[in-house]
Amino acid sequence: MSEQAIEVQDDGGVVRLTVNRPKALNALNSEVLAALAAVLDDLETRGDLRAVLITGAGEKAFVAGADITEMRDMNAVEARDFAGQAQATLKRLEALPVPVVALVNGFCLGGGCELALACDWAVASDNAVFGQPEVLLGVIPGFGGTQRLPRRVGPAMALDLVTTGRKIDAGEALRIGLVNRVMPQAELEDYAAELTQQLGGNGPQAVRGAKQAVHDGLDQDLDSALALETSLFALCFAGDEQREGMSAFVEKRKPNF
Ligand code: CAA
Repeated sequence: MSEQAIEVQDDGGVVRLTVNRPKALNALNSEVLAALAAVLDDLETRGDLRAVLITGAGEKAFVAGADITEMRDMNAVEARDFAGQAQATLKRLEALPVPVVALVNGFCLGGGCELALACDWAVASDNAVFGQPEVLLGVIPGFGGTQRLPRRVGPAMALDLVTTGRKIDAGEALRIGLVNRVMPQAELEDYAAELTQQLGGNGPQAVRGAKQAVHDGLDQDLDSALALETSLFALCFAGDEQREGMSAFVEKRKPNF
């Protein structure tokens, strides 16, 4: 297994991951998934982690899907194990305690779209193409698409996409809420730098608390979720960040978290 299948760059705790198989449009095979799991082994232990950005190598694709060549000769048991490996890995990515953002720089199909859906939010270049085209190959999405897509864009739109297999452009992805922002491809790097500054500069415990409140709260009824928010809000006042952040405001200076 080569960890180079996922390139890792660290900028002050904002870690950028690049799926690095450009000749196969960054298709996810078991080697890439194992490399991502190995990277997660490290990221999960890091108290200094501020955010994760994930993108694809080259200018053509984010990730063009699970690897069709590898899947072609699988039997049902092997297919179950492959989907299980991918689902477990994407669940770990999603569960990182910091924001995880997809920088979608081209084709974002099948398992690629499922990777983007496991991220907290996604931004896309204007040439990006999205879809869950699995039915065209005689299968259904297996990396979480039938579950995360309806949660992100609603069941009717998800059923449209997973049963027709049609591809959509970045503008439609923005309109249905699959991505948060669309920009010219040449501006994606500037956006990544801006995001690195923003997420790296905010109170790290507050950012983690905000993610936890949203994620854990969505699985609860409103009263329980509001109680969770109260607890996490109160916890902010038990550390140093709140005093520094509010003192900086009062003293008209930038906070130093
Ligand atoms: N798996 C394996 N190889 C892939 C791939 C994939 N998902 N997508 C692209 N490639 C490979 C191509 O085979 C090709 O390799 P060669 O140069 O060795 O022939 C190389 O990447 C470049 O691709 P194309 O020549 O096809 O490039 P294009 O510009 O003509 O087309 C594309 C681009 C429309 C994205 C096309 O490659 C395509 O349709 N790819 C497949 C997309 C797809 O169906 N994804 C879903 C996969 S199934 C899935 O993901 C299941 C799941 O949920 C678990």
